Amino acid sequence: MKYFIANWKMNLTAAAASQLVGQVRPLIKSYLDKTEIIVCPSFTSLSAVAKNIIDSGMQIGAQNCSWQDVGSLTGEVSLTMLKEWGVSHVIVGHSERRQRLCESEEMINQKMSAVLKSGLVPILCVGETFSERQEGRKDFVIAGQVESALKNIQLIEKKILIAYEPVWVIGSGQAVKIDEAEHAARVIKQVLIDLYPDIDLKQSVQVLYGGSVDSKNISYFISSEYLSGVLVGGASLQTDEFANMVKIISERT
Ligand code: PGA
Repeated sequence: MKYFIANWKMNLTAAAASQLVGQVRPLIKSYLDKTEIIVCPSFTSLSAVAKNIIDSGMQIGAQNCSWQDVGSLTGEVSLTMLKEWGVSHVIVGHSERRQRLCESEEMINQKMSAVLKSGLVPILCVGETFSERQEGRKDFVIAGQVESALKNIQLIEKKILIAYEPVWVIGSGQAVKIDEAEHAARVIKQVLIDLYPDIDLKQSVQVLYGGSVDSKNISYFISSEYLSGVLVGGASLQTDEFANMVKIISERT
């Protein structure tokens, strides 16, 4: 089973998002036994997409959440509210939030803890910027982000997804080479082995790749023994690309 996570970011109105789900549904129906598909629309589209996704075999994810469950936090959305919409997964620590919305390591750690406590599955995003890579700090940055996101968190009987997303390739149209994605996945797994020596990581944690994945390059990433799937932004906004990528996963798995 491989994961296909569609991150629609701040694209598509509720009407357009539910139309896209409606178009994709019949095209991916026969591939669901090999692929776990999670669609992550904007907050305002969650309700419409949730209605249109019923009985499709696809699941619904949010792109963010508050770490607080109730209270005075203007503009935030709690996990209880997300559950009401049928959300099963939550993206945490996407680089666009870390960089452009000043989301700190501490906030990410609090969100991870809240998502796990709520019973939903977090999709933690980690990855280095181009300058961090050029300074030779790539592995150090990735390891540090995983460690701080999971600080004081127990993973017993919990499930998390971690997406390696090199910041400099997101939206660039040029994914990294497969050996680079595999190397990052191994760095992440080593950190987890050191943090949680007593748990069966294969059951609890899956590592994915994200960053300019499309139907031309997806087969490299989903054929890797180190990667359990992909997190796709831009290419998942097009019906044919979405369906094609899911078909390729199904053929290669
Ligand atoms: P992209 O985005 O596929 O458009 O590069 C991926 C992401 O940011 O999750």
